[in-house]
Amino acid sequence: MSNETLTVRHNATGKEVEYPLLKGSLGADTADMRSLNKDLGCFTYDPGFIATASCKSKITYIDGDKGILLYRGYPIEQLAENCEFTEVAYLLMNGELPDQTQLRDFNEEISDRATIHESLRKFFDGFHYDAHPMAMLVGVVGSLSAFYHSDLNIKDPDSRRICAARLLGKMPTIAAASYRHSVGRPFVYPRMDLSYCENFLNMMFSRSSQNYIDQNHYIDPNLVKALNLLFILHADHEQNASTSTVRMAGSTGANPYACVAAGIAALWGPAHGGANEAVLNMLAQIGSVENVPKYIAKAKDHNDPFRLMGFGHRVYKNFDPRATIIRKTCYEVLERTHTNDPLFELALALEEFALKDDYFIEKKLYPNVDFYSGIIYKALHIPVDMFTVMFAIARTAGWVAHWLEMMEETATPISRPRQLYVGPPRRDFVAIVDRQPFVKSI
Ligand code: CMC
Repeated sequence: MSNETLTVRHNATGKEVEYPLLKGSLGADTADMRSLNKDLGCFTYDPGFIATASCKSKITYIDGDKGILLYRGYPIEQLAENCEFTEVAYLLMNGELPDQTQLRDFNEEISDRATIHESLRKFFDGFHYDAHPMAMLVGVVGSLSAFYHSDLNIKDPDSRRICAARLLGKMPTIAAASYRHSVGRPFVYPRMDLSYCENFLNMMFSRSSQNYIDQNHYIDPNLVKALNLLFILHADHEQNASTSTVRMAGSTGANPYACVAAGIAALWGPAHGGANEAVLNMLAQIGSVENVPKYIAKAKDHNDPFRLMGFGHRVYKNFDPRATIIRKTCYEVLERTHTNDPLFELALALEEFALKDDYFIEKKLYPNVDFYSGIIYKALHIPVDMFTVMFAIARTAGWVAHWLEMMEETATPISRPRQLYVGPPRRDFVAIVDRQPFVKSI
């Protein structure tokens, strides 16, 4: 426990209050200012939580200046090189890497929970064929709460663990079903004899006459490895918008399946997980290398809504270590699949051009995880509107890990930020006959 403090002085009254500086195991000190309003009668103003720690967590650490990402202390590069995705999910949820027996049992449990209730499968029939797969994912994952509610005891650690395993198990099944529905193909049931990534690919691409993966038609293990790697890189990223949403919803004691559906909704936006889909659409819009300078100029123009998707990050101000790993994997996957993707050439040219530009240098804008991930998904024949769904499958590991961590705390306060009210002061009601027509100022 440190004795260091931060003194805050209210200049109007001269009153000074010392706040304890909390020391983490890594990273910046954090002033515990929960009593600020009681002490000095004011709040802190921090829209977007730019300088606010919303919780204590032992799961993931990021050093944005040095480009460091650790899951439970392990560098992302080492996990990406050596692990399977479920091993990393186990690590995030439990705090330690599993031994062989623990991993086998965990994999079995996840596979065992991959099947969805037949009634839930029928929910897909209610969606129009062109519904966005993320819309289906939000709806169907949220609907899991209708199947698992009355027997669920979120105060019981075993019940919580089962819930986390269920979400990990069912997410690829629901994700693949969203795709199958959108292309009018029959649903494919999960298989226990396949790994997490193989099973997902099999559910996505099997035909009624032939499994995508069987003894006669085996997928190149290097492609499964690439998917596994993308899932590991996307598995967690501390208090990002979707994880914070899961925590915020969870802080009310809400059903965890509904909380994860809220996380999926937050992930969908183009500023967050929706960026991978937006990157591919942007590359298609740019079209060719000659157009790069024109689009870089548009991205720099604050009067133009165009932004360079897949660039910039709230935390990374040097480079995103995930993007470095993915760029390298792009070369390998494109080579193995004999894909000559002009969009990859275009992405490389765009990155090179942007990184030499003063605007991007000054604002410390670098390619993030989403800049190159879509190129790999595309080479794996994953359709563009499924890219954010892929992110959601992987991030489920982080969402459930954070939900479990939060629920383990003895007293989790409900998340309830304050505000700076800038609306009208108190005024008296005016009868409808006496009101002037309202004209909205633009
Ligand atoms: N293109 C052009 N300008 C940009 C970009 C960009 N991609 N990103 C940031 N800027 C500018 C921004 O206009 C602002 O300029 P100024 O200071 O003159 O007003 C400055 O850089 C700081 O940007 P910000 O929006 O205040 O930074 P933020 O930390 O609030 O936002 C971000 C981070 C990721 C939302 C933003 O960089 C962005 O919109 N990037 C594009 C979308 C994207 O790739 N999102 C995926 C993030 S990584 C995956 C994940 O974790 O979800």
